[in-house]
Amino acid sequence: VTISENVLLNTYTTFRIGGPARFFVVVKNILDLTDALVFAQQKGLPIFVLGGGSNIVMSDNGFDGLVIKNEITGITFQEKADNPDVPENTTLVIAGAGEEWDAFVGTTVEKNLFGLETLSLIPGTVGAAPVQNIGAYGTEVKTTVRFVEAMHKETGELCTFTNAQCDFSYRNSFFKTPEGKKYVITRVGFILKHHDKPNISYRDIQKYIEEHKLAEVDITLQKVRDIVIDIRTNKLPSVKDYGTAGSFFKNPIIPKAEYEALLQQYPMMPHYPAGEELVKIPAAWILDNVCGFKGYREGDVGVYKNQALVLVNYGNATEKDVKNLAEKMIACVKEKTNINLEREVEYISEK
Ligand code: EPU
Repeated sequence: VTISENVLLNTYTTFRIGGPARFFVVVKNILDLTDALVFAQQKGLPIFVLGGGSNIVMSDNGFDGLVIKNEITGITFQEKADNPDVPENTTLVIAGAGEEWDAFVGTTVEKNLFGLETLSLIPGTVGAAPVQNIGAYGTEVKTTVRFVEAMHKETGELCTFTNAQCDFSYRNSFFKTPEGKKYVITRVGFILKHHDKPNISYRDIQKYIEEHKLAEVDITLQKVRDIVIDIRTNKLPSVKDYGTAGSFFKNPIIPKAEYEALLQQYPMMPHYPAGEELVKIPAAWILDNVCGFKGYREGDVGVYKNQALVLVNYGNATEKDVKNLAEKMIACVKEKTNINLEREVEYISEK
């Protein structure tokens, strides 16, 4: 592998923020990855693994270690005839961690495989999908993940984690824990169905179907993908046009009793069930309707005009600009609702 030095990271993150990596390497396969890990070990360097760079705020000081850009690619399909472990009427699709997520979803939809269609147009890579258990329009990737293959950063051992071992929950998994961070994801296996009813229950999709007067027969697998792409294009900023990392905060999960108390003050506040005695509140609703942040701007950083959960870099915003605005948003939500907003994006620095 070729190790470069002092590589600026802003072009590798969708927020377009980040100083230089002390060392930087692109890995295309397992052997490259092993070489990169040995290099880091010999030099005693901390490691940061970069996928699509679409869910991070990289430090303006960069990363004083080795940044590994994961470009491990390849997609294979296994049927029951090839592998008896594959359930009836499904295909096991195994994809390299460096595959671009949306192109991968497109490939599965073209092959008429059900399960990932509502996760269309999410930026990032296949390897990043299980880390935060990406989700959209009523589906989380955890429902399709069969296994995650990952290499231990210190021992170089290649391990396979079952779905249960991944310990998925809302925007969370084993790979976000200190133990999980010791691994670099190399491949992900998905079980996708040959026949299914696409999941169109989410409000935005239902609204779209009504507005476009679509009949049930029109709602093919490809159509669901197209609908999701259309909705996202209208609601979320394109990473081609702006610096952004999508939703900046998680939707908070709070006790029902707290929600009911908040309803006295904010009777329109929406909620979704989140297990017994818990409800999930759309943070975007609070940031928009309670705190008035939608479209708010401070210099080059702002809150997107169509989605209050999304921060945008309009030009030369710095890490500090983003963090300052995020702090203001957290403080307002705390003051008005006593809810603690948690970040969905990760702050990266070498410390
Ligand atoms: N809303 C507002 N103001 C806004 C935006 C939304 O009042 O500016 C209200 C909407 O009316 C709706 C509710 O908030 O009642 C929820 O909004 P939306 O359906 O747009 O979804 P979200 O909860 O804001 C989540 C995910 C998104 C995902 C969408 C669609 C999280 C943190 N975010 O957003 O994921 O695309 O649902 O399923 O769970 C991401 O993680 O980066 C991401 C974009």
